[in-house]
Amino acid sequence: MPNTVTAFAPGSVANVAIGFDILGFSVDAVGDRVTLTRRAQPGVVIKSITGVVDDLPLEAEKNTAGQALLALAAMRNLDFGFEMRIQKGIPLASGLGGSAASAVAAVVAANAMLEEPLTRIELLKVAMEGEAVASGSRHADNISPSLFGGLVLTVGIDNPRVKQIPVPEVIHAVIVHPHLQVSTKQARAILSRTVNMSDFVWQTANLAGFISGCYTNDLDLIKASLEDVIIEKQRQVLIPGFAEVRAAALDKGALGCSISGAGPTIFALCLERDARAVRDAMTGEFARLNIATDKWIAPVQSGGAHVVSSE
Ligand code: HSE
Repeated sequence: MPNTVTAFAPGSVANVAIGFDILGFSVDAVGDRVTLTRRAQPGVVIKSITGVVDDLPLEAEKNTAGQALLALAAMRNLDFGFEMRIQKGIPLASGLGGSAASAVAAVVAANAMLEEPLTRIELLKVAMEGEAVASGSRHADNISPSLFGGLVLTVGIDNPRVKQIPVPEVIHAVIVHPHLQVSTKQARAILSRTVNMSDFVWQTANLAGFISGCYTNDLDLIKASLEDVIIEKQRQVLIPGFAEVRAAALDKGALGCSISGAGPTIFALCLERDARAVRDAMTGEFARLNIATDKWIAPVQSGGAHVVSSE
C-alpha cells in the first residue's frame, strides 16, 4: 500500500436555496488538498496548514480533517496513524464548504492507504464527524457534493442515502465570494426553531419543483422553484448588499440567486450565455459597497474528490 497520498476535494454550494442541509453542488474551481504519510503509531499528527487559511487548530480532535481521520481510524480499528499536511484553497468562513473539503480530502487520501477501503457512504459518515467540529452539527450538504461531485441530495444522517441529480448542461453557476466572514455556527444559531406553515408548503413545493425540473430539463419549472422562503430572509442581514446583489442577478436573467451555505458567498444559477452578465452585475453591486470579491463561473456538473498522487 502507498506510504504517502495526496487527495483533492472541491468546494461546494450547500442548500442551493431550497434544500437546507440536504442539497449541495460541487465547485471544483476551488478546493483543498491533503497529503497523508503513514506513521507507525496510531493517531493523527497535523504537521502543517498552508494556503489561503493557516490559523486552523493543529490538534487533531479540534480540526475537521483531523477528526474525520480519527473517525476513519476508529471505524477500521487501524493499528497505524497519519501525518497530515493541509493545503487550503477555500477561504475561511466563506460559505464554500471549506471545512467539509478538508475532511473529505483527508478521508479520501487515507482510504487509498487501506487494504480494505471504506465504501463511499462510509467515507461520507466519517467525513461528517469532521464537519461537525466546525459547524456544531452533523449535516452532509457540503460533504456529499465534495465527495461525490455534481448536484447531490442526501437523505438521512445516521444512515444517509445519496442521490446525484442530473442538471441540464446549459445551466451554469455564478459564484461570488465577498471578502467577509460569516461563522457557520453563528449563521445556524440565528435561525428560528419553528417554520410558518405557508412557508413550509411553499419551500416544499420549490424543492420538489427544482428536483423534478432538473430530471425533466424543465428550465421554466427550475426558475419558478429556485427561491428560498425560509432561511434566506433570516440570514441576509449577515451579508451587506445581499438584496441588491440578488436583484442584480435576477435582472440579468438568472434562474435564481441565494446564499451559498451559511454565506457570505452568493451563488446564482443561470443559462451559460447569461453567466458573464450575471457575474458582472453581482460583483458590481459589491464594488459599489467597496467590498472586494472573488468570482467563478462553473458548470454545476463537476467531479468530486480524488487522489492526486500516491507513492
Ligand atoms: N446547510 C448548512 C447551513 C451549510 O446552511 O448552515 C453550512 O455548513
